[in-house]
Amino acid sequence: MIGVYDSGVGGLSVWRELVKLMPDEDYVYFSDAAYCPYGPKDPAFIVERACAVTDFFLEKGCELIVVACNTATAAAISYLREHYTIPFVGMEPAIKPAILRSRSGVVGVLATAGTFKGKLYLSTLARFSGDVKVIERVGEGLVETVEKGILDGPDVEALVHRCIDPMLAADADHIVLGCTHYPFLQPVIERLAGPSVTVVNPAPAVARQAQRLLGKKAEPSQRKGSTEFNSSSKDISILLRLASL
Ligand code: DGL
Repeated sequence: MIGVYDSGVGGLSVWRELVKLMPDEDYVYFSDAAYCPYGPKDPAFIVERACAVTDFFLEKGCELIVVACNTATAAAISYLREHYTIPFVGMEPAIKPAILRSRSGVVGVLATAGTFKGKLYLSTLARFSGDVKVIERVGEGLVETVEKGILDGPDVEALVHRCIDPMLAADADHIVLGCTHYPFLQPVIERLAGPSVTVVNPAPAVARQAQRLLGKKAEPSQRKGSTEFNSSSKDISILLRLASL
């Protein structure tokens, strides 16, 4: 059993890649919607929540935990690895492939405030940015709109424009989705950014890393795995709706 955790519905963008790659596994999803968004919160609080969710997954009998949240990875993954023996897979800020592939020399990164302050992001940026200009934008309002299940329309377009227009004006040719909620807005982001911009979603790479850690090969199997959906909030209707997309 694999535990998948996010502040809300965003982790579903990683969960669906895990299910694609390992359809015969059983999953337990935990949305910490009662405390969403994590982006502006104190890292110590996020560590506390990550420990509570880890304890929940351990009681369920999970053998691997995917922290499908960039903000929780930034705040808590080192602490979790130090204090628990169960393996954790965290989100990698996919700025490295974007920087390496950029032809214009400008890359945009969309993430939460907490992710931009994280050691992992800052060290990856320092190591790989070189001459490439990296334009960072906090995706103001994007997590909230995805949590409401609103994935398109004029209000979403206005929010996305505010985030990506400075990147496009600077000639960015890659936009990295540094928050697991944002892949739900990928069609809007791609439409507004135009065909010359590549939108990078790290979720498939994170799913492959989970598969490597489990040491399982993608083999055809008759068994169909299951997913149990849990939330710290009472209403899970949007979680279930987005899981069925
Ligand atoms: N989905 C999350 C992330 O990847 C958290 C967003 C939030 O709760 O602010 O960063």
